[in-house]
Amino acid sequence: MKTLRIKLGNNSDLRLPASILRKGGLVAFPTETVYGLGANALDENAVKKIFEAKGRPSDNPLIVHVSDKEELFALVSKVPEKAQKLMDKFWPGPLTLVLNKSKSVPRAVTAGQETVAIRMPNNKIALELIKQSGIPVAAPSANVSTRPSPTEAKHVLEDLDGKIDAIIDGGRTDIGLESTVIDLTSETPTILRPGKITKEELEKVIGKIETKAKAGKVAKAPGMKYKHYSPKAKVILVTKKEIPSLKRKLGTKKIGIILKEGTFEEFAKSLFSKFREMDKKGIEVILVEKIKEKGLGVAIMNRLKKAAGEI
Ligand code: TXA
Ligand code: MG
Repeated sequence: MKTLRIKLGNNSDLRLPASILRKGGLVAFPTETVYGLGANALDENAVKKIFEAKGRPSDNPLIVHVSDKEELFALVSKVPEKAQKLMDKFWPGPLTLVLNKSKSVPRAVTAGQETVAIRMPNNKIALELIKQSGIPVAAPSANVSTRPSPTEAKHVLEDLDGKIDAIIDGGRTDIGLESTVIDLTSETPTILRPGKITKEELEKVIGKIETKAKAGKVAKAPGMKYKHYSPKAKVILVTKKEIPSLKRKLGTKKIGIILKEGTFEEFAKSLFSKFREMDKKGIEVILVEKIKEKGLGVAIMNRLKKAAGEI
C-alpha cells in the first residue's frame, strides 16, 4: 500500500483523512504528546489493522480519542465524579482516563478488558480530524511495537511507511512523551503511566492517588509490561561523573551520550528523537544522564528506566 502524505497549509482540509478513517483505514496524526495511529474505534476490523501494522500484542489495549467531552458518555457505562472533575480541569490535554466501558466499544480496542482508556488530545489537527470523521478514534503511538514513540512525521514513516493509508504531518509534537494514564475504576485512583500531568497536579483536583498497582497484582496497563520506548542500542543510566570511566570500560564500542541540557520540558521533547538518531548512526551503547524524579522528571525517568530495561 502507498502511504499518502498530507502536509497541511493554512487552509487545513482534513476531509480526505477523515473519510479514510470512516471507511476503516489507518491514519497517523499528530497529538500534543506523540503521533498516534488512528482507526475507527467502533469498527473491529479497522482496529485489528492497527495491531497488525504495529506488530502490537493483542492483549495490549488502545486509547480511544475524542474531540469533545460529551463523546465520552457513549463509550463508558458510568462517569464517576472524579472523572468528571479531571475532564473539566485537564481536557483537552495529555491525560487518559480508564473507565468501565459501554457495550459500544469493541473487545479488540480494550483487549478483552471491561475498561476503556479515553483521551481528548490538545492538538488542533487531531481534534479537527476526529470531529470531521464523526467517530471516536482508537490510536496507540504510531511506532512499530517496542520502538520509541514518534515525535515527528518522519519517525512514523521510518516505522510504518507502506503499512498505513495516510499520515498527516503536523511538525514536531509539543510534549514528546505519552499521556498520563489514570485508572478510575479502582477504589483509589491509580496512575498506570506517568506523563506531563503529574500526581501532584491530579491530587489537587481529586485527592489521594496511588502510583502503581500494588505488588503482587498483575500490571494493570498491559502495555507497561512490555519492553518499550527502546532504541536498538543498549541504554545505561548514569551520573555525569560516571561517564569517563564507563567510556574507558566500553572500549571500542560506539557510544552516544545524552545529557540533560536545559529544562525537563526540553529534555522530554527531544528524548525519543535522540534515541532514533543514535540508532541511525549505529550507536551501540547510549549513556543517558539520570535526572531528579520530580515533576516531569518522574515521566522522563519512567521512560528511561524502561529503555534501560530496569523496569
Ligand atoms: O499520549 C498518548 O497517550 C499517545 C497519543 C497517541 O494519544 N498514545 C499512546 O498509546 O501512548 P499507547 O497505545 O502507545 O499506550 C497506551 C497505554 C498502554 O500502556 C496501554 O496498556 C494502556 O495505555 N491502556 C490502554 N487501555 C487501557 C485499559 N483499558 N486499561 C489499562 N490500561 C490501558
Ligand atoms: Mg505506545
